[in-house]
Amino acid sequence: MAVAVSARSGAPEDTSADTRVVALFEDEPPAGDLQQQLVDSGEAKPGLRKVAVAHEDAPGGGRRRVIVAGLGKREELDPEKARVAAAVVAARAKELGSSTLSWDAPEGAAAGIVEGTLLALYRFDRFKSDSDESPNGVESLEIAGEHADEATVTAARVTAEAQNRARDLQNLPSNVATPVFLADRAAGIAAAHETVELELLDGEAIVSRGMGAFACVAQGSYAEPRLIVLRYDGGGGGPHLGFVGKAVTFDTGGISIKPAGKMHEMKFDMSGGAAVLESVAAIAELGLPVRITAVVPATENMPSGRSVKPGDIVTAMNGKTIEVNNTDAEGRLVLADALSYAVEQGVERIVDLATLTGAIIVALGSTYAGVFSNDDEWCAEVEAAMDATGELGWRLPLHPEILELTKGQYADLTNAAAERKAMSSYAAEFLRQFVGEVPWVHLDIAGTAWGLGRQYVGKGASGFGVRLLVELARSSSPR
Ligand code: BES
Ligand code: MN
Ligand code: ZN
Repeated sequence: MAVAVSARSGAPEDTSADTRVVALFEDEPPAGDLQQQLVDSGEAKPGLRKVAVAHEDAPGGGRRRVIVAGLGKREELDPEKARVAAAVVAARAKELGSSTLSWDAPEGAAAGIVEGTLLALYRFDRFKSDSDESPNGVESLEIAGEHADEATVTAARVTAEAQNRARDLQNLPSNVATPVFLADRAAGIAAAHETVELELLDGEAIVSRGMGAFACVAQGSYAEPRLIVLRYDGGGGGPHLGFVGKAVTFDTGGISIKPAGKMHEMKFDMSGGAAVLESVAAIAELGLPVRITAVVPATENMPSGRSVKPGDIVTAMNGKTIEVNNTDAEGRLVLADALSYAVEQGVERIVDLATLTGAIIVALGSTYAGVFSNDDEWCAEVEAAMDATGELGWRLPLHPEILELTKGQYADLTNAAAERKAMSSYAAEFLRQFVGEVPWVHLDIAGTAWGLGRQYVGKGASGFGVRLLVELARSSSPR
C-alpha cells in the first residue's frame, strides 16, 4: 500500500502521529528530557543505525511512541546517512505496529528520510497467497519541523515512488513483464502526462528501420519485441538528453546458453529499461524543465529454431556489420541500435544504463556501477548526480587497444572477443561506436541493479538509476 507523505513546518511535537522520530547526534547533548534519560540508561546511542524506543505523553491525551534514531555527527550528516537511518527506523516502526510516523527532520535530511522510508517499506509479495504482512503497516510519513520543505519532500516522494515502480518492473517475472508489458507501461506514462509522447516500433518496424543488431536478438523468441521511445518536453533551454536502457526481459544467453544455476536472475536483465521508464515518469510528474528522449529496446534472448547463431553476421542501423560470436553478448547488440536511434533523434547528451557484463560485478561488486564515457564534462555531470543520490559509480577506461579487440574477423565488429580481457571496457568500446560524437556515458549496472545490500533496498531489486536520472534532469536544466 502506498505510504502518504506530507511536510509540516510547525512544532514537531504537535503531531497526531502514533510514532514520533527524533534524531540523536554524536558530540551533542540530547534534545529533550526523554532523550537524555534514554542516553543515561544506555538505551539510545547516537551512532548511525542505532535506534531506541520510548513513550511520551501525546498532546491530546494518551501516550505515543518515540523512536530515537542515531545519526552520527551532525556535520557529517548527508542524504545517504539519512536514507540509511530512515530505513532502520522504518523497519523498527513496522515491527512495532506503527501506522503513522512523524520525523523531526534535521537540516539537510528531509529528502533522504522520505526516500529511505519509502524504499525500505517496499515489498513485492503480490504472488504470495498467504502474505504474513499485516495489511496496514506504516500508512503515513510526516516530515515535521523547520526543515520540512514541501517541495523537497514532494520531489523525494515522487522519486522514491518511481524507484519502487522500477523495482516492481524488475521483480515481475519474465512471463508477466514481457516487452509488450513494458510498452504498455510506457503507454501508461504517456497517457498520464501531456508532456510525454510515446512511439513504439514492433518487430517488423525494427527490421524495416534497419536495426539488424536488435532484430537478431529478438528473432529467437515468441514474445514480440518493442523499441519503446518516450519523448518528454518540459521546456527549458538545456541540452536535449537521451536516456537509453537495456530491457532484455529474460536473458537465457540464447544459443550460447547460460548455466541453469542463476539463470532465473536474468529476469532482472531489463533493469536499465525499468529505471529509464520510471525516471521519465518521475521527471514528468515533477515537471522538470528539460527535454528527454528515452529509448528502451525490449526483447527476450532465447534459444530456438530461429535464433541468431554464433558466427552469424548482422548489419546494425548505422551500417556497421557485426559478427555475433556469442549470442549471450546480446545487450550490446540491442543497445547498438537503440543508441543509433537516440542519436538520430537529435539528443545532445546520452546516458545509457545496462546490466551489461558479469565482469563489472567482479571489478566493482555492488558498491559502484561501472562508468564509461567519451566526454569528461558530461561524465563529470553524471558522476555528480551519482554522488548526490548515493547511486555510486566508478569510472573505468576506454582505450584504443580495447577498441581494437572489437574488430571482427569477417565483419566490421565482433560482439565478443576470443580473449577474456577487460570485458566491461570491451562492451563499452563496442557501444561507443554507435554514439558518433555525442557526449555519452555508459553505466554498467549489472552489479547494482539488484543485490545492493544497502539498508534501504536490501538484497533484492534496487531500482538503481532512477534517483540519478531524476537528479541529472534536475541538474542539467537551467536554473
Ligand atoms: N545480462 C548479462 C550480464 C549479466 C551477468 C548481468 C550476470 C548480471 C549478472 C549479459 O547479457 C551477458 O550475458 N554478458 C556476458 C557477455 C560475454 C558473453 C561476452 C558476460 O558478461 O558474461
Ligand atoms: Mn547475455
Ligand atoms: Zn543480458
